Amino acid sequence: MSDIVLCKREKEPIILGIESSCDETAAAVIRGRKLLSDEIISSAPTQALYGGVVPEIASRAHTDAIDEVVDRAISHAGIKKEDLGAVAVTYGAGLLGALLVGLSFAKGLAYGLEIPLIGVDHIRGHLAAAYLEDEDLKPPFVTLLASGGHTAILFAKTETEFEVLGSTLDDAAGEAFDKVARVLSLPYPGGPQVEALAREGKPTVPLPVMLKGEGGYHFSYSGLKTAVINYVHNKEQKREEWSRADVACSFQHAALDILVKKTAEAARETGVGTVTAGGGVIANGYLREALTEMCAREGLKLVLPAKKHCTDNAAMIASEGLLRYRAGLFSPLSLNAEAYIPLS
Ligand code: KG4
Ligand code: ZN
Repeated sequence: MSDIVLCKREKEPIILGIESSCDETAAAVIRGRKLLSDEIISSAPTQALYGGVVPEIASRAHTDAIDEVVDRAISHAGIKKEDLGAVAVTYGAGLLGALLVGLSFAKGLAYGLEIPLIGVDHIRGHLAAAYLEDEDLKPPFVTLLASGGHTAILFAKTETEFEVLGSTLDDAAGEAFDKVARVLSLPYPGGPQVEALAREGKPTVPLPVMLKGEGGYHFSYSGLKTAVINYVHNKEQKREEWSRADVACSFQHAALDILVKKTAEAARETGVGTVTAGGGVIANGYLREALTEMCAREGLKLVLPAKKHCTDNAAMIASEGLLRYRAGLFSPLSLNAEAYIPLS
């Protein structure tokens, strides 16, 4: 069972991607970089009742959904299982019970069909989402990664190798959005809720600017988060009027402007002509506009994944699967799930 299934590598293989690291059960099929199908069943509405992801509920939901989501991805792609050239699956990082549902399913398929298994690091999947957007995208480029667990600026050297130029020293950007959402009594998931509320506000609340000049390409979100919490508690204790929308808007500016500024600096310093981005926070409309404006100003090409490919999905896993397939990076059937994978 532990042998790597090798194959005659095709130029435009049909790859099934499977994602089950958190609360989305997803499957997608690509042929080369062309997306043929993109399916998702989410347990987020159930998780919202508990104010966050409950691992046991996520695992059970994946078990219920995986068969249907994969069947849908294969039939909507207009192919048969036998047409698949490889199965790419998230093996980490994430909730172990959740990951094991997708990983075991993928192993069964790869074994039964005698096609290669490609284990994908979820974060590399987020970074590979941009390749679905632009057939001609080629390294080197600078990437802004902003998700629930990571905030970093990376230099992509090749399709499978990148260098971390800087990352968060404490909380991730998405995590800060989720915590601020809680302080503002917004439901889970927090990021999109804060964005919606921010649209009704003005950036008038004074908040600290994080590591503006110093810190290289590093970020720090815990001071900003604490400043928001202190501001709200202070106002409530003194029974003073305050605007939730203005807090959301001010926080959004403080949290995201710095990402754009440091991405511009990284592009300038490395001399690349292209910038990409990935991760749930990149779905934020204010950030997308700010990145678009910055790249236009700096004369950079910007490749942003579609919003639905910024948050968790399987198309990005299939996309990373293709990069690894082309590099011959296949996985043994003994591959295990990993709760944590360092950014490297
Ligand atoms: O990449 P992702 O879907 O999951 C991880 O791999 O972490 O990112 C989820 C994070 C959450 O913290 C969520 O609040 C944030 O991305 N997020 C957003 C938006 N949509 C999702 N943050 C700000 N604005 C959004 N529109
Ligand atoms: Zn993710």
